[in-house]
Amino acid sequence: MSTTHFIERAVVTGAAGFIGSHVAEALLQRGATVLGVDRRSPRDNALAAENLDGVMGHPGFRLVQGDLVTDELKPWVDGADTVFHLAAIPGVRPSWGDSFGEYLACNVLATQRLMDACLSSGVRRLVLASSSSVYGDAVDRGPLHEEGVTAPLSPYGVTKLAAERLALAYALTPASPTSVVALRYFTVYGPRQRPDMAIGRMLRGILTGEPLRLYGDGRQRRDFTFVTDAVAANLAAATAEVTAEAVNVGGGNSVSVLDVLNLIADITGAAVPVHSDAHQPGDVQVTEADLTKARELLGYEPSVSLNEGIERQWKWLSTRSGERRRGSTAVTA
Ligand SMILES: NC(=O)c1ccc[n+]([C@@H]2O[C@H](COP(=O)([O-])OP(=O)(O)OC[C@H]3O[C@@H](n4cnc5c(N)ncnc54)[C@H](O)[C@@H]3O)[C@@H](O)[C@H]2O)c1
Repeated sequence: MSTTHFIERAVVTGAAGFIGSHVAEALLQRGATVLGVDRRSPRDNALAAENLDGVMGHPGFRLVQGDLVTDELKPWVDGADTVFHLAAIPGVRPSWGDSFGEYLACNVLATQRLMDACLSSGVRRLVLASSSSVYGDAVDRGPLHEEGVTAPLSPYGVTKLAAERLALAYALTPASPTSVVALRYFTVYGPRQRPDMAIGRMLRGILTGEPLRLYGDGRQRRDFTFVTDAVAANLAAATAEVTAEAVNVGGGNSVSVLDVLNLIADITGAAVPVHSDAHQPGDVQVTEADLTKARELLGYEPSVSLNEGIERQWKWLSTRSGERRRGSTAVTA
């Protein structure tokens, strides 16, 4: 890991989101000033208010409510040394059908516009949120490494691959001032996880009694990554000595959804209520990261086990305002 550079002025796009808010918090803790950019604001969005609770009012933090697709971006990135680009429309399942235009605009066009602005403002480094979805299915392929085939199986995955390739192409233009690290996250979880994501939905099911829609047979495996590990990868990626690289960020183990349900039952003392549903188009059977490149380029090492991570998310969810425990006797359907 290089110590040549230091992050002083950062821009975090998607700062009102799950991972972006954690990245903003970590940067402030390290003494950087942070401009958060997001379409959502705590004024009009309860999730944004909750995510940004730890940073609003911090003297080093400012939030601009704006849209990367339509607003002028150069004024936001002028003077920044590092841009952490986390804004996007996430989620595989809703990316089919009519909403694809929104995915295309917010994930691809927004990234191209941001790269244009970074190059013309002389931003030194952009760290992009890419995704394991760029690979497609890891079943029968073993741990996925960055030089392997990228064959996304969902419109979302296609937009993330396009965004990644765009950012890397900009970084590789002659005399580009902006170098790029695209972090391919593998299923990030932890406090403030997006409400549509599995572990949060499982834990909430225990509190509310609402059954988890379990798509497929539960034997699909994911390489779950605790959010503080994803944040550590972002900080390392900001200063690593590279020009244009895609790097996996995983949790170090690929675990089945059924095993996660059992782990949650052990941790909480209650079974997650489950409603079985059909396999969904675009959902892959296996994700599994090869972390060799992350270790070599970023000095990255996942440090939070799935057991500890779920315990931390459960503790956060249990004490979070607005959540009331009921239905803790719910049983698996
Ligand atoms: N959470 C995961 O497990 C995971 C896995 C792989 C990749 N990623 C990627 O990481 C990033 C962050 O994911 P997350 O889970 O925190 O999602 P999130 O939805 O919580 O955060 C994304 C934020 O981006 C903002 N945004 C979207 N379009 C925008 C636009 N046009 N202009 C300004 N703001 C806009 C949203 O308002 C939201 O606050 C995304 O790029 C996602 O594709 C996440």
